[in-house]
Amino acid sequence: MSNTSMSNTAMSSNTLTVVDREGATHDLEWEPDQSMMEALRDNDLPVLASCGGTASCATCHVFLEQDVFSTLEERSEDELELLVEAEGYRECGSRLSCQVGFSRDLNGVTVTLAPED
Ligand code: FES
Repeated sequence: MSNTSMSNTAMSSNTLTVVDREGATHDLEWEPDQSMMEALRDNDLPVLASCGGTASCATCHVFLEQDVFSTLEERSEDELELLVEAEGYRECGSRLSCQVGFSRDLNGVTVTLAPED
């Protein structure tokens, strides 16, 4: 008769550590039905996401640590085209967070918000 719904919920999401543009860190929950951008935006981080996640604005640009970045699928042509024009682009680290889907492998990773253009 114990209530385990809280722990079940906690087990179903990932934890993200986010470094904002002022260098402050935020720990947040990333739910399985969210893209990384949606997790950032829904936790009130300053990610404009003006295109709504269609890889056409680059306002969701983030930096991932190199060892994490290298485990992800390659960026699409469209994503890469936007990123190379974005402020602070890193060949090994820049992603549009709207194009990063939920994955258990990304539990506990650190994400840094890129500077605004
Ligand atoms: S939300 Fe516009 S490119 Fe990601």
